[in-house]
Amino acid sequence: MRVTLKKAATLINKGEVVAVPTETVYGLAASLDHPSAIRKIFSLKKRPCDNPLIVHISRLSQLKNLVASMPPHFHKLKKLWPGALTVIFPANKKKVPLLVRAGLTTVAIRMPRHKVFLRLIDKTGPLAAPSANISGRPSPTKRSHVEDDLGSDFPVLDGGVCRLGVESTVIQLSRNSFSVLRPGALSVEKIAKVLKNIKYRDERLCSPETSKKPLSPGQKYRHYAPQAQLILCRNRKVFGKKLRQGNFDAVLGFNDSMPKRNRVQFLSLGRRDHFSGNLKYIYARLRELDRLKLNRVLVDANFSHEGLGKTLWERLNKAAGKTSGCKEKALTPRAFSNNKL
Ligand code: TXA
Ligand code: MG
Repeated sequence: MRVTLKKAATLINKGEVVAVPTETVYGLAASLDHPSAIRKIFSLKKRPCDNPLIVHISRLSQLKNLVASMPPHFHKLKKLWPGALTVIFPANKKKVPLLVRAGLTTVAIRMPRHKVFLRLIDKTGPLAAPSANISGRPSPTKRSHVEDDLGSDFPVLDGGVCRLGVESTVIQLSRNSFSVLRPGALSVEKIAKVLKNIKYRDERLCSPETSKKPLSPGQKYRHYAPQAQLILCRNRKVFGKKLRQGNFDAVLGFNDSMPKRNRVQFLSLGRRDHFSGNLKYIYARLRELDRLKLNRVLVDANFSHEGLGKTLWERLNKAAGKTSGCKEKALTPRAFSNNKL
């Protein structure tokens, strides 16, 4: 249900949860001053309590209240804000509720590049907001996606279709290097350019192929997943062979993935060598697979892992059910009893 900016601010300031637009994906926002609203985010999303939330700010001056100190080299990154970059800071434990941090001593913070959301934060103060999907489902990139997951009566501040359509890149800084905890809408190459001589530690911990404990708790859960089983195929020859065998209901790929006369349902991410502009449609495509009630989908995953290719590869792997460190069990809500907040 659409709500105005004024109504969204009133609801949030009263301790309610409201879905909000960002340039990446829609978020589910609550005030840091309302522990019950933070708890509601977790229950609405059915989110494991050991997966912390990102805190969104509208002004740099809001940082000092939220963090215990500045990580090395952060001053260089300021020029990427507002933007699709989330940075991990040592948390000011008095100001950032334990549940927002999922028990960690750090807090993830970003300043979004979306005028409506920034105006909302100006009226409410910093807002905790994960993506506004039910956990495990593809993230919402427009109001109707939020309503599909949370119901048509759920309050949504409508900001149109998200411009970038995939989540922010989450990074952690250290003295000599930076690591990417979750690849996202801002490429590692762009971040490295701004950080100049600071090395990018190729953090295999965030790779879906590894079983090590991930630095970012969210990496260990299945994500972005449609109901359909996705069969990823990186090798062109194998893809061609599977295409001929025809043991699937649809193909997700690029404009040149399909032979002209093949009649199977086909969803495209655009040009293979130029998909970055179409990355924003990935979640809409995954949701489309559900709408079409498909069971098995062959995915042409033969594309470059440069730039945003890393992000597409990670999202497709997660959507296909590959997780890192997934042997760990999720914490129960009881681990974060009310009085700990
Ligand atoms: O673009 C985005 O980042 C969107 C919009 C709404 O801002 N938000 C988003 O939030 O994607 P969420 O909750 O779906 O993903 C946040 C990710 C999770 O993987 C979580 O584990 C990680 O950030 N994260 C949050 N706090 C962290 C922390 N203190 N240390 C390590 N990882 C953290
Ligand atoms: Mg999410």
